[in-house]
Amino acid sequence: MSNLVCVILGGGGHAQVLIDSIQAQDAAVIYGVLDRDSSLWGKEVLGVPIVGDDLLLPEVVSRGVNCFAVGMGSTGDNHARKRLFDLGVAYHLAPLTVIHPRAVCSKWARVGAGSQLMPGSIVNAGATVGMNVIVNTGAIVEHDCVLRDHVHVATGARLASTVEVGPGAHVGAGAVVKQCIVIGEGAVVGAGAVVVEDVSAFTVVAGVPARRLREVETQSLFSCGNSEGSRS
Ligand SMILES: CC(C)(COP(=O)(O)OP(=O)(O)OC[C@H]1O[C@@H](n2cnc3c(N)ncnc32)[C@H](O)[C@@H]1OP(=O)(O)O)[C@@H](O)C(=O)NCCC(=O)NCCS
Repeated sequence: MSNLVCVILGGGGHAQVLIDSIQAQDAAVIYGVLDRDSSLWGKEVLGVPIVGDDLLLPEVVSRGVNCFAVGMGSTGDNHARKRLFDLGVAYHLAPLTVIHPRAVCSKWARVGAGSQLMPGSIVNAGATVGMNVIVNTGAIVEHDCVLRDHVHVATGARLASTVEVGPGAHVGAGAVVKQCIVIGEGAVVGAGAVVVEDVSAFTVVAGVPARRLREVETQSLFSCGNSEGSRS
């Protein structure tokens, strides 16, 4: 049994898949969930209590919690996921790296702290995954791809080889990205898109082939520090 005791930051739908994955991996004992939404307090996510909001973090730490996982997913904007990650780190908690037993992660891939590889996902040899990245259910990250910090590769998306995804970018559910494409920081690729050319930072693209829809509303930078992945 692991000696890690984990708090989940964020109690939305993604938290269910995360908790299921942590339990399946036997990665940590789960202390509870923190969420800003007071209507959730006293409820449970898969039997794990939602005990309060971020203000409880000092108490949680004093009770022996030593790591955290971000329980929030996203449909495009990853700033809230970054905020929760930074919060956990600020309290000197270790980011828990979660690799579901039915995810396939090559021993030749590198996965950064706090990243989550969900059931059925594949991260192939030579890929580099930064910190606080979600490779969601059934998504494929081919060889030599580089995913920077706070990226979300949503359910069923497929990245061909040597794709680079910038910090905080979102690749939508079921999207396909052609080999050697560069997706800029904070960019959003719509669900089902086929990306055949580079995507500029903070730009939303969608369709087949993917075309620019608009700019992203919140353009504060994700890139601060080093996103070189290391297996935690
Ligand atoms: C691309 C996306 C970010 C656009 O969101 P939005 O800016 O709110 O866009 P809207 O819903 O206002 O739609 C704007 C236009 O784009 C079209 N559009 C929206 N999403 C589209 C998509 N994925 N593919 C093709 N066209 C799309 C709409 O039909 C609409 O067209 P119209 O102007 O001709 O009527 C969003 O639709 C999307 O696909 N997000 C990803 C969701 C995801 O990955 N979820 C998985 C979580 S695990």
